[in-house]
Amino acid sequence: MFPKINPTTTQAWKKLTTHFSDIQDSKMQEMFVDDPKRSESMAIQWNDFYVDYSKNRVSHLTLSLLLELAEEVGLKDAMEAQFTQETINETEGRAVGHTALRNFDAMKPEVISALAQMKEFTEKVIEGDWKGYTGKPIETIVNIGIGGSDLGPDMVHEALKYYKNRLDVHFVSNVDGDHVMEVLKDLDRETTLFIIVSKTFTTQETLTNAQTIRTWFLNEASEQDIEKHFAAVSTNLEAVAQFGIASQNIFPMWDWVGGRFSLWSAVGLSIACAIGYDNFESLLKGAHDMDAHFRNEELDENIPVILALLSVWYNNFFEAESECIVPYSQYLSKLVPYLQQGIMESNGKSTDRNGDLIDYQTGTIIWGSTGTNAQHAFFQLIHQGTKFIPTDFIAFKASLYGNDDHQNKLLANCFAQTDALLHGTYGSEVENNFKLFEGNKPTNTILIEKLTPRSLGSLIAMYEHKLFVQGVIWNIFSYDQWGVELGKKLAKGTLEAIQNGNSSNLHNSSTKRLISSLSE
Ligand code: F6P
Repeated sequence: MFPKINPTTTQAWKKLTTHFSDIQDSKMQEMFVDDPKRSESMAIQWNDFYVDYSKNRVSHLTLSLLLELAEEVGLKDAMEAQFTQETINETEGRAVGHTALRNFDAMKPEVISALAQMKEFTEKVIEGDWKGYTGKPIETIVNIGIGGSDLGPDMVHEALKYYKNRLDVHFVSNVDGDHVMEVLKDLDRETTLFIIVSKTFTTQETLTNAQTIRTWFLNEASEQDIEKHFAAVSTNLEAVAQFGIASQNIFPMWDWVGGRFSLWSAVGLSIACAIGYDNFESLLKGAHDMDAHFRNEELDENIPVILALLSVWYNNFFEAESECIVPYSQYLSKLVPYLQQGIMESNGKSTDRNGDLIDYQTGTIIWGSTGTNAQHAFFQLIHQGTKFIPTDFIAFKASLYGNDDHQNKLLANCFAQTDALLHGTYGSEVENNFKLFEGNKPTNTILIEKLTPRSLGSLIAMYEHKLFVQGVIWNIFSYDQWGVELGKKLAKGTLEAIQNGNSSNLHNSSTKRLISSLSE
């Protein structure tokens, strides 16, 4: 049973409210002095992950009240409802099955067969046995998709570059025609394979890009060559066939997998091409490791649960508006945009699971970028600004190329920043207020042995489960995204107005003037 409990009506919420007024001004600097075991007791070692959450504005009482809240809103029931494929995405009438895509112990037959199809396809392309229309092997893959059909594959491709084979992989997402032209200008039709990824196969951006690319391809090749150069991933088989994709080049998707959770399916085909099928499978296995941890571990030792509860604490009691994520790995430069969709499309909701409007805060704003670069960009604001910004630091113990000098400096910076945010200039004399650092700024440090397909899978799944737990607590449906529909609908009428130079069908004078300015 998927519970529908307003968190603010629980006993735990009331206790947390009272507790918050007791603790809100407490200093972490003092908490560390008072409890020498704090860093030991507020950390979780799991597989090759070490998660240190001791640098947070919490006491042991805070944690136990947050755990009480999780119990009271029925988190365990909600988790089971998801894992057992109940229709928890009620507003769309769907189950939520991304975890089933990576559970090799109990895999659905259709997932097994899709993976087998992916394996065969990728091996043929990588080995050079898949030939283009002039008989040359494929050298370049282009993923055409947007949102969940782009961000996940693009992020993982970037993150696992070290594991890449000879294939060049590009991503075309934006309907901005300059994006597609910039990609196309360096491509050779004879050696390029395009993968159109769209769950619905109705997305304006993707279909426009796919048509433009098809026309560009047909400038030199013929219709019958399309089957050697175009593949598609979708649930909408009819529309894919209409586009002219050969049936053997169509990969399935299912309505029980949300777009932003779909990189584990054939949506990840470009990833599997880039790093090989075995590495893709390791990515899935890493995610499944985290699924098993999340499902089976006690809540107080459960990484996604603890991270989610801390986030709720800051969002709803400290009134933090945003959370920053800083991976100390250049490979993870696309993690934040990926998580922005995952987290903000899921939890940016203001109607609860009973259909009532909500009068408490839900989804946080996610932002960030890689360390150490970020230190030279926006860290000033986190250290000395007036905003309260809990930050996740992600780092790997070992670098992939084994350059110790760089790695030591990278890790030193990562750890030093969390230290500076915690301590500030507390207890020291400062010359003036310009040099004052209050400290007491919360951080989590997620330290992982090494960036591998498996550990990346676990890391992504960790954030997936974290956002789910938050959604459960906030009593919202995390797996729908009605908020993106209105803009799509209005864009149709606006496009007509731009194309016809006639905006009489639009109701807003500001938009009308913007449109008339196009022809001035
Ligand atoms: O507009 C948002 C959205 O529906 C996302 O949820 C999804 O990932 C993206 O569009 C792309 O959709 P599709 O895969 O159907 O083209």
